[in-house]
Parts: sequence; structure tokens; C-alpha cells
Amino acid sequence: MNRLTDKVAIVTGGAVGIGWATARLFAEEGATVIVADLAKPDLDAEDPAIAYAELDVTDEHAWTQLVADVLADHGHLDILVNNAGVIDYAGIADVTPHDWERVIGVDQTGVFLGIRAALQPMLAQQSGSIINLSSAWGVVGSDGVAAYQAAKGAVRGLTRNAAISYARSGVRVNTVIPGWVTTPLTNRQPAEKNAEVIALTPLGYGADPRDIAWGCVYLASDESRYVTGSELVIDGGLLAQ
Ligand SMILES: NC(=O)c1ccc[n+]([C@@H]2O[C@H](COP(=O)([O-])OP(=O)(O)OC[C@H]3O[C@@H](n4cnc5c(N)ncnc54)[C@H](O)[C@@H]3O)[C@@H](O)[C@H]2O)c1
Repeated sequence: MNRLTDKVAIVTGGAVGIGWATARLFAEEGATVIVADLAKPDLDAEDPAIAYAELDVTDEHAWTQLVADVLADHGHLDILVNNAGVIDYAGIADVTPHDWERVIGVDQTGVFLGIRAALQPMLAQQSGSIINLSSAWGVVGSDGVAAYQAAKGAVRGLTRNAAISYARSGVRVNTVIPGWVTTPLTNRQPAEKNAEVIALTPLGYGADPRDIAWGCVYLASDESRYVTGSELVIDGGLLAQ
């Protein structure tokens, strides 16, 4: 219940799904959490430690403002979870340049802008943990989903780059790689597609968002103080095959 006591965290895309589960667990572990999303989460009195800030992760100036507001309100920023993501199912032959840019904008550039904005206080503090959400589809090929695969692969490279560049500054940067997770994103997918991925998953069922969130708690906490540039795979065995 106190693995993140006194820590201040931003969770992007935290209104629903993996981000919301992460925000809830962070709060349960003692953190003050800012859910930064285009959409507002369903906050209630049970979540006094969770606040909402409107953010489009593709907007550089909005990032600057968000971090300035967090510092003004809390004095420090200890954790950033770059979780916001969108998907497009088209392959290279079919994806429109507009959809390509939209997915790369949120899933790749949004992560870059988030890391850059968080580094400003974290480098000054000489401490911080940044967690970037990739995907099993950022590791292995799949039919279609070209822009998503490209962006999720790039997230892994960005993580390693930031981890190495800022290791001596006390800032740790790691990737989380989920397999199939029950969220609004997968609920919008065709049932056959979901069944196909779950059938390929050795454990035989999809993850609950909290399964991914517990990994984020570990990487956010001081328990992982010696972990940077790593990839935490939480996929029911999917990528072990
Ligand atoms: N669900 C899965 O099976 C799965 C698997 C692997 C990786 N992931 C990754 O995990 C992350 C979360 O996935 P999820 O399934 O919870 O997604 P979701 O679609 O259920 O929720 C995504 C959230 O991101 C927000 N968002 C979208 N664009 C944004 C923007 N421009 N600025 C700010 N917020 C924005 C949405 O409003 C939403 O609240 C994503 O990066 C996703 O790619 C999910």
C-alpha cells in the first residue's frame, strides 16, 4: 500500500483501460496521480489522490504547460507513464498518409514529447522513472497495423536511447510490452481478431488491465532502482513462442 508514497505521477491516456488501472494502483500505493488525457476519467470521491488534466500528447506546448502546472502544485514530478495510444489496422499498401501521421503522432511523437517534457524537472531533481507502453506488436510482425507496429517498435528504441542518455542523471526509462488486454481499445476490435490473439496466448486468456498496471508499479517504485533500458513483457507467454 505504500510502494509509491510521496511520489507524483503523470499517466497519459489514463481515462480508461491500462492507464486508468495504472492510475488507480499508483494511488492505492500512495502516489499523487495526474491523469492526462483528451477524455476525462470517471473520478469519484474514492480517488482523492487522482486529478485530471486535459492533454493531447501530440501538443508540445500542452506538455510544457502540464509539467509547469504539476511542479507549481506539487513541487516535483517523479513518474511519467507514456500510455496514451491509438491504433489503425491498415497495412502499408492501404494506410493513408493521414492515418499514418495520426498514429505515429500519438504513439511515437507523443512519447518523445512526454519524455522531453518530464526530463526538465527530472534532470534537475536527478531522479525519475519514465515508463513507455509498447506492445507485442512492437516486437513481432502482424498482418496490417503498419503504423502501430512502426510506432510501437520506435518506442522501444526511444526508451533505450533515453535510458542510456540519462542513466548518470538518476532518470530511469523502461518499456512495458503488453500482449492482449481487455480494454476499450480491444473491445472496439472485431471479435474474431480478439479470439485469434487470445488463442495464440499460451496462458489461454487475455490480461486484465491491472496485470499491466502492476508492472508499472514495479518500474515506478524504488524497488526497480537498478532497472533501466529494460523491457518488461506482460503477455501471458505470447512472445516466448
Ligand atoms: N489493450 C491492449 O491489448 C494493448 C496491448 C498492447 C499495448 N497496448 C498499449 O497500451 C496503451 C493503452 O492501451 P488501452 O488498450 O488501455 O487503450 P484505450 O484505447 O482503451 O485507451 C487509450 C486512452 O488514450 C487516450 N488518448 C488517445 N489519444 C490521445 C492523445 N492524443 N492525447 C491524450 N490521450 C489520448 C484515450 O482518450 C484513452 O483514454 C496504448 O499505448 C496501447 O497501444 C494495449
